[in-house]
Amino acid sequence: MVMKMNFTKVGILALLVGILTPTLVKALAHSDLFSCNGCHTPHHAEALPGVPLWNGLETTVTFTMYSSDSFQGAIDEQPSSDSKLCLGCHDGANPDFSWMNPDFEFGADDLTSSHPISFIYDSALATLDGALKDPSEASTLGGTIFEDLLDPDSKVQCSSCHDVHTSGVGEKLLRGYDYGIQHGPELCRMCHIK
Ligand code: HEC
Ligand code: HEC
Ligand code: HEC
Ligand code: HEC
Repeated sequence: MVMKMNFTKVGILALLVGILTPTLVKALAHSDLFSCNGCHTPHHAEALPGVPLWNGLETTVTFTMYSSDSFQGAIDEQPSSDSKLCLGCHDGANPDFSWMNPDFEFGADDLTSSHPISFIYDSALATLDGALKDPSEASTLGGTIFEDLLDPDSKVQCSSCHDVHTSGVGEKLLRGYDYGIQHGPELCRMCHIK
């Protein structure tokens, strides 16, 4: 209950800040918007692989996962790891965030039209695909693709592309470099050879 109240207060605050200074809000990391307890809790945490000290905020939506004729990954039945965490607020069903911009919400059918998440990206998939880097290759962030972009189970998740901890990391919290107004291909080329 206490945590929910925090969310509501923070939500109203973020909304006001958003109306007054939209560009400032865009540059803020989630840690600055929600503090750490939007996602972590220091005590009585729940287990979610890939998210240490998870606060337990669950999405209430059942999603249809991505599929296509060319996609070769084995996708989880429902979003896993930090994708599950993100969708706790971004599923369009969280009453504390009913004010959220609809473009920022992903409802039951919206993952079918988003880049696939919650599947293992390993050497076998890279070989099968033929146009993916091996996850042991370097990203542009200092470590390997596995270390910098994938969860501990070697899965692609929301956090593969977004960094919720760092302010000003790039537009829309995108990893890799300052994305700027024009969305360049650098993020995508950390994994794809295209
Ligand atoms: C919007 C959700 C969110 C918020 C807010 C958030 N975190 Fe995290 N945190 C994550 C996710 C997701 C992971 C695992 C994936 C990753 O590192 O991106 C993580 C991982 C971590 C880790 C372990 C992994 C690592 O790379 O060190 C630490 C430590 C951590 N967070 C601390 C913090 C602190 C301290 C704050 C507040 C200043 C904070 N987080 C705010 C989502 C969040
Ligand atoms: C505690 C709730 C909460 C969680 C958990 C959360 N978000 Fe958000 N997120 C928000 C809200 C609220 C906004 C602002 C919405 C708006 O402006 O309409 C937002 C905005 C964003 C934006 C747009 C930022 C911009 O600069 O325009 C991105 C990208 C994003 N979130 C990604 C993520 C990812 C990835 C995760 C999981 C690692 C995550 N969020 C987890 C609540 C959350
Ligand atoms: C393959 C990389 C990738 C993955 C994985 C990914 N995103 Fe994004 N996301 C992007 C890019 C690139 C943009 C900017 C799109 C634009 O501005 O046209 C974006 C934009 C957003 C926005 C801002 C809304 C918008 O339409 O611009 C939110 C919120 C967001 N992502 C949340 C998420 C969540 C939640 C997940 C996991 C369910 C996720 N993203 C997974 C790359 C990704
Ligand atoms: C963290 C690594 C990573 C990043 C970053 C990434 N992708 Fe992917 N992407 C993958 C993997 C792995 C697949 C699965 C390939 C397969 O099975 O064919 C994939 C699949 C795809 C597909 C094919 C889906 C299908 O149905 O065949 C497209 C198109 C794509 N990504 C575009 C992008 C774009 C555009 C970006 C940048 C916004 C991006 N990716 C960023 C790893 C990544």
